[in-house]
Amino acid sequence: MEQLRIPGPTPLPSEVLQVMSKQMINHRGAEFGQMLNEVTDKLKQLFQTKGDVFLLTGSGTGGLEAAVVNTLSPGDKVLSVSIGVFGERFAAIAEQFGAEVIPLRFDWGRAADADSVRRALQAEPKIKAVLVTHNETSTGVTNDLASISSVVKEFDKLLLVDAISSLGSINLPVDEWQCDVTVTGSQKGWMTPPGLAMVSVSQEAWQAHSKAKMPRFYWDFAQAKSYLERGQTPWTPAISTVFALSVALEMMLKEGLSNIVARHARVGKAARDGVKSLGLSLFAQESHASNTVTAIAASNGLDTKKLLRVLREEHKIILSGGQQKLDGKIFRIGHLGWVTVDDIEAVISALRVVLPQAGFKQ
Ligand SMILES: Cc1ncc(COP(=O)(O)O)c(C=O)c1O
Repeated sequence: MEQLRIPGPTPLPSEVLQVMSKQMINHRGAEFGQMLNEVTDKLKQLFQTKGDVFLLTGSGTGGLEAAVVNTLSPGDKVLSVSIGVFGERFAAIAEQFGAEVIPLRFDWGRAADADSVRRALQAEPKIKAVLVTHNETSTGVTNDLASISSVVKEFDKLLLVDAISSLGSINLPVDEWQCDVTVTGSQKGWMTPPGLAMVSVSQEAWQAHSKAKMPRFYWDFAQAKSYLERGQTPWTPAISTVFALSVALEMMLKEGLSNIVARHARVGKAARDGVKSLGLSLFAQESHASNTVTAIAASNGLDTKKLLRVLREEHKIILSGGQQKLDGKIFRIGHLGWVTVDDIEAVISALRVVLPQAGFKQ
């Protein structure tokens, strides 16, 4: 069997795979309603929020669009804190819907710095919201969201968070860190196939929603809320993916959030220690290296494309390359969701064999 070690979609436990073959049910019936209510309650526990949580059928990017169109109006100034590909995407969505985006960019591989966020907010008092990526999957960096959030809240701004590759794997107490909209995706740490974005919505986000004028229909949180009160979603949901999520959440709560976070910390450390033991260097600033994805710099003659091909063809291990300007410059190991230290050690052992074949010289 192939070992899929990319940063999503991630492998599924057999319990989750099995439930995906269940027959369809009426999405306006009692059985679905009960499942939706239970799933929503469990998600609230894992988001660590007492606010609203909605299941949206779509990918993570849809959830980011929902965060923007539900809280902002054309012409609103937003600060985009960007450390990689996904930070740029969040900003592009806001810009597409008419926000005036003020970019605050950091070198790829580095984390955002809260003092720079403070200076940017001081420089432009009219900023309404701050967009930030908690875990930048393209560079393997986790931002210090607690510090960024406390600066954003010093200035009383909305905080919209892309937590697509962190929530459910890396600690993110949504209420404590005052995140107004927090977005994640089912195919990441949730041991569930692609198809669902899960979002939390704070009271402040609801206040912003009541004034927000960006066009919205499919993603309207008010529709999601009024249907959820009846145990439904406004539009036909990805029912099989909800079946899967329901079983996966059961497994996650059984393991316990703090144990899940600790397991990801162990797995992340095993990945970093492992690649360093092979003479490779991390692409990410190590103090902020992610526990869900490790990005490794191509150095010493390493041909990352050949590396990925040989790993796939001869070892059945699938890793990711770099995105956009990082194509050919890094490769990435995904380690989120259903993953153990042994799984990562198997990747490191295969890398030890394949690195010299892919041109790497110590
Ligand atoms: C941090 C981050 N943001 C956004 C996305 C986009 O999510 P999706 O591909 O589900 O639309 C991803 C997916 O890789 C991601 O890792």
